[in-house]
Amino acid sequence: MNISIIGSGHVGLVTGACFAELGNKVVCVDNDEKKIRSLKRGKVPFYEPGLEELVRANYEQGRLSFTTSIREGIRDAEVVFICVGTPSLPSGEADLSAIEKVSREIGKNLNGYKVIVEKSTVPVKTGERVEKILKGTAKEGINFDVASNPEFLREGSAIKDFMHPDRVIIGVNSRKASSILLELYEPLNAPILITDIKSAELIKHASNAFLALKISFINAVANICDLAGADIKKVAKGIGLDKRIGESFLNAGIGYGGSCFPKDVSAFIHIAKELGYTFHLLEEVEKINRGQRVRVIEDLESFLGNLEGKTIGLLGLSFKPFTDDIRESPAIDLVNLLRERKAIIRAHDPVAIPNFSRIFPNLSYFEDPYKIAEGAHALVIVTDWPEYRYLNLKKLKNLMAYPLIVDGRNLLDPQRMKETGFYYSSIGRGKIR
Ligand code: UDX
Repeated sequence: MNISIIGSGHVGLVTGACFAELGNKVVCVDNDEKKIRSLKRGKVPFYEPGLEELVRANYEQGRLSFTTSIREGIRDAEVVFICVGTPSLPSGEADLSAIEKVSREIGKNLNGYKVIVEKSTVPVKTGERVEKILKGTAKEGINFDVASNPEFLREGSAIKDFMHPDRVIIGVNSRKASSILLELYEPLNAPILITDIKSAELIKHASNAFLALKISFINAVANICDLAGADIKKVAKGIGLDKRIGESFLNAGIGYGGSCFPKDVSAFIHIAKELGYTFHLLEEVEKINRGQRVRVIEDLESFLGNLEGKTIGLLGLSFKPFTDDIRESPAIDLVNLLRERKAIIRAHDPVAIPNFSRIFPNLSYFEDPYKIAEGAHALVIVTDWPEYRYLNLKKLKNLMAYPLIVDGRNLLDPQRMKETGFYYSSIGRGKIR
């Protein structure tokens, strides 16, 4: 099938490359000339395991191509996926300007029947806005259908998540659109749920909001564990064995970040309010999540007192491991909170330093975590990169001015920290003083 992807970012490029891998002919469009040039050279401008190889292979085999022109990009397509960003406005509302701009461009260039699919995460009823824009810009007599097909890709495992989804959600209001999308997704052999467009849009927001809620819930329980002297890992294991709860997304820590949960939770709160419902539960999810960053600073202060002039090493800048994405990363909040306290900040990350240094150019960055430890008063584990689990603790301790590790991701073993003579705090497993 001929497909067009509008917006070649984390979602669009993975979607395009995977559809090409499945044998479709895909044109990826983006208005960023630099990005398109880079893609034509087989270079993916962000880190996503396996993506560069997949893009290069399909580009070389002629199933995948790139252009900055929507007109050219959709000309031969039967299905057009809208994968542009829907970032948060200051109010928390989703910014739909890119969706609307792209919809107008698509409408103006419609040269025959196509299914126009919202893949970006959008507030419920956006499909109606897209349909209205297309109707207002398409030439007389040109037919089309709008559909919602939300993505459930996690950064760092996006290709696997695309090729082996738990489910495919297809929101349509025509049999024709439904049969085209069913044919397109058939090779995945995944469970497919056909719904109306609004339900499909809400499934996405509700999924991400629930996952964020689960994380804030276990973080709240972790804070109680610290007060009660219980162990959050054991509590999470115990509740997760209940199949109705499930063990995933019960890792307590410094909280969620990324380009999805924060914006989707605030957008869901906002659209609910617009519809007449105040989503207090999600407001509390946000509050708990913000509080986890502050709690890490309080842990540092409980050991070091005033942080002014103290050297603090941050281990991990990306919002999660296996990505260089720093959007809404807890590290950003920590840098701001530590700067307010006039601490001396050092930072390490295996891949995210280039992105992080664009927003914090004056920070001291180190390619080697042991360099950060030299003379440091504390190390904070901010991202659970596996390499931090295997740091040589004895070597770290000899390098540090004060042997304190604040483990924002519960990566290390408290018993081992005690035996090595560290001061240590984590989230929900007490402190070693
Ligand atoms: C998420 C959803 O998982 C995905 O389905 C959706 O399509 C996009 O948003 P992503 O944001 O890429 O994916 O990463 P995810 O693995 O979900 O982690 C999000 C954040 O939650 C990260 O900051 C991670 O550190 C944090 N997290 C995750 C926890 O703090 N605890 C957990 O148990 C799991």
